[in-house]
Amino acid sequence: MGEAGKWRRKRAVGPLVYRQSLATRITHWVWAICLFFLLLSGLQIFNAHPTLYVGEQSGFEFDNSVLAIGAVNSPDGPRGQTRIFPGALTIPSYRDLGTGRVVHFFFGWVFLGTMLVWFVASLVQGHLRRDIVPGVADLKAAPGDLVDHARFRLHNNRTYGPVQKITYFIVLFVLFPLIVLTGLSMSPGLNAAWPWMLDLFGGRQTARTLHFGAMVLLVLFFVVHIVMVLAAGPVNELRSMVTGWYRLSAGHPKLKGDKP
Ligand code: HEM
Repeated sequence: MGEAGKWRRKRAVGPLVYRQSLATRITHWVWAICLFFLLLSGLQIFNAHPTLYVGEQSGFEFDNSVLAIGAVNSPDGPRGQTRIFPGALTIPSYRDLGTGRVVHFFFGWVFLGTMLVWFVASLVQGHLRRDIVPGVADLKAAPGDLVDHARFRLHNNRTYGPVQKITYFIVLFVLFPLIVLTGLSMSPGLNAAWPWMLDLFGGRQTARTLHFGAMVLLVLFFVVHIVMVLAAGPVNELRSMVTGWYRLSAGHPKLKGDKP
């Protein structure tokens, strides 16, 4: 062994395990692409009328707006237009509601189809039961695990931890269905076929506001998700979501099917 080899310290690591199935990986990246286009084309649509309401109606004669982004008139003239979403951050980057809607609906349907594929594959492969639906033990361990996450003390284990399970469960079974159903309930065609859907969400404007709220929560999830991927070891995390193989922390025994 040469000098370099003699002094090279071997890092203590656990085995390489096959953690993410092909279905999990493909659906994950299709979602990421869809949500990118949905967010930016959604902002294009939102900018056509950047005000949110509750209830059935919207318009000048109603006083039911809950969020408005635009210019206000003051005695000194129009003032204070807070532009939270700059125009260039939309798809297309210029004002074009028609194209924005085409892009939004296309990726919306791809997103819904991917959700169905993920659900069936996860049910059949046991991914739902094993990694996603939190059990009583996960709920009990969640507060301690949350403190660990806040201190960036992350563990590379064989399955998701309690906070991961609960977060992914909320994203997959609350936010994804909510954003799709509120989106569908704004479609005039579906309103005619299933009028109960609009009633479920308390009217078209409430559906629109809930759709927007779910988007904000998904963006928040995305930011924390990326920070956690970076903190947990981005190369290992990304490899697992691309190839399926994940390196465990030191101390995990090597089981059948694992690689050294
Ligand atoms: C809109 C964007 C995204 C959403 C909604 C999202 C959502 C999710 C969900 C729901 C899971 C669990 C999936 C399952 O087990 O079936 C997951 C896992 C994962 N995501 Fe994302 N993700 C997004 C973007 C990203 C990006 C950009 C990266 C990489 C930089 C990333 C890296 C990962 C990794 C590494 C895992 C596996 C976590 C682990 O093995 O501990 N995600 N994501």
